[in-house]
Amino acid sequence: MASRVIPVEVFDLVVFGATGDLARRKILPGLYLRFLAGQILPECRIIGAARGELSPGDFREMVAAAIAEFVPPARRQDEAIEGFLDRLCYIAIDATGEIGWSELKREIRGDVIQAFYFSVTPALFGAIAERLRAHDIAGPGARIVVEKPFGHDLASARALNATLARHFDESQIYRIDHYLGKETVQNLMAVRFANILFEPLWKSEYIDHVQITVAETVGVNGRGAYYDKSGAMRDMVQNHIMQLLCLIAMEPPYHFDPDAVRDEKLKVIRALDPVRPEDIVRGQYLAGQGGAGYLEDVESAASRTESYIALKVNISNWRWKGTPFYLRTGKRLRARESEIAITFKEPPHSIFDDHRGWRDNVLVIRLQPDEGINLKVMIKEPGPGGMRLVQVPLDMSFAEALGDAAEDAPDAYERLIMDVIRGNQTLFMRGDEVEAAWAWTDPVIEGWESRGEKPQPYDAGTSGPEDALMLMHRDGRRWREIRA
Ligand code: BG6
Repeated sequence: MASRVIPVEVFDLVVFGATGDLARRKILPGLYLRFLAGQILPECRIIGAARGELSPGDFREMVAAAIAEFVPPARRQDEAIEGFLDRLCYIAIDATGEIGWSELKREIRGDVIQAFYFSVTPALFGAIAERLRAHDIAGPGARIVVEKPFGHDLASARALNATLARHFDESQIYRIDHYLGKETVQNLMAVRFANILFEPLWKSEYIDHVQITVAETVGVNGRGAYYDKSGAMRDMVQNHIMQLLCLIAMEPPYHFDPDAVRDEKLKVIRALDPVRPEDIVRGQYLAGQGGAGYLEDVESAASRTESYIALKVNISNWRWKGTPFYLRTGKRLRARESEIAITFKEPPHSIFDDHRGWRDNVLVIRLQPDEGINLKVMIKEPGPGGMRLVQVPLDMSFAEALGDAAEDAPDAYERLIMDVIRGNQTLFMRGDEVEAAWAWTDPVIEGWESRGEKPQPYDAGTSGPEDALMLMHRDGRRWREIRA
């Protein structure tokens, strides 16, 4: 099944922080891949901006090296790479001073789509936004793109929103949560709202509980300084897992339209109950499996930051009252695996005597790796011996079902950057959504800080701390296994 690629309109994209890690790993290789796919027209331009004094040739070389490192060999095509590099230019800019801004003003065209990607520390957002306005660089339709972390807590997120709002309208601000750009995450909406099958059962009357797991095998890998100030709650739950929860729990929007979708997500966040202390388990990985322990990785023996967290979360609204959502995420776990599992309740009455093989129906949406959907259903065990029941999976791997189209699907950043150019904010977080997420997160963190709680150590390569198992056992439920 071939994918259909429609070129986006002509644009000038300025990447601030163009020599930084994110630009090298994701943004620039992602843009090359969209160019290769024919989505970026030759008239488009990408303007790298950073503090360093690079010649245009140096910048080209840097981008060529990034493509060589981060694009799979099968998609590195010399002619396309040359064509892409010809779209680039570079300007040395001082975000907090005056160097480079008049040059940028000369370089940028007023009659094409303008996008400004702030791939820099949030401390510079205000200065850059202000200069884009002061030098009359950003036209009325310009878009700005900002990365996570969007704030560290509610107060800082509000301050950031206020800073950006001084210079740009909300309709121009694209806050990235790369989970929303993942193909399977978008599929959550397709599965829910393009099928009649699931929606009538999508409520506490029929759903026993929901599990959301984002397990990683990596540790904090050289990001210790950032991570230790953040921890799993801020790094993963407040944003990525919150978005997954919203897409599972939200009411059907009236249309697949940015504000309609975001209004519904916001209602979910606002309906989240405060989390009780006994419904939180935090952990820190120990050394093992060839890696150092968390405390060594962050070079702070006294750190109380969690590299793992499990939470039981309740949503107080008509649809979900009584159906808990169990969330967990952690580093240095047994496998890299992200999935959402929806466990349905038992039928109200069993007509069968044999209950030995009985299992609940479960709908598993696998986000990574091996994206797909798996629905576990009960059938009769084949053969003689009466009506014995057995559970079997209805398993659909997207790669098998969709072939090349699934293989060639753009990575989250590719998709999201193209959405910026198209002017579609559906997969970006709105300011009020981010603030609501922090308003729920802050008291959870303040709670364990004020109780002086330490995370529990867990062995690398396992499924996390023992107490996380208890979080479910005590409710008569079990986590799904993280498969090695
Ligand atoms: C990032 C977090 O936002 O998401 C990282 O800062 C985490 O700590 C990463 O590893 C996970 O993203 P993915 O796409 O690999 O699941």
